[in-house]
Amino acid sequence: MKLAHAPYSGFRVGAAALVDSGDIVVGCNIENAAYSPSICAERVALFSSWAQGKGKVEAIAIVTASGATAAPCGVCRQVLWELARDAELILEDGKGGYLIETVRNLLPRPFGPEDLDVSKLPPRQGADGRQPS
Ligand code: THU
Repeated sequence: MKLAHAPYSGFRVGAAALVDSGDIVVGCNIENAAYSPSICAERVALFSSWAQGKGKVEAIAIVTASGATAAPCGVCRQVLWELARDAELILEDGKGGYLIETVRNLLPRPFGPEDLDVSKLPPRQGADGRQPS
């Protein structure tokens, strides 16, 4: 969080991914003057862990300097589904308070690698209980 590059939003975020080997890989949000290339702290931690060939990510802590917990944005939820769908999320307020979340709870109807292979798809129904005809 202290290393965050957040001059545009002023919203500093830190993340720490715990890998099954016991290693911890950290990340921070890194913003850009062109805005859209900005990246969230948890994605930096996840991508860094992947690029370093670390093992399965078991938990990710996300802490903000705002005094409140923040939940991952939609893009991060999608990346979490791809790379760490079973990870426990620890959302911290930077004052010692935290809550536990799961990726599944934050992304209830995900698009993932299974969608690219229809033979692996489970039966699905919409919010109205209907299945595709
Ligand atoms: N941000 C994160 O790094 N993680 C989150 O979970 C929420 C948002 C960053 C993105 C941007 O740099 C700043 O916080 C404001 O949205």
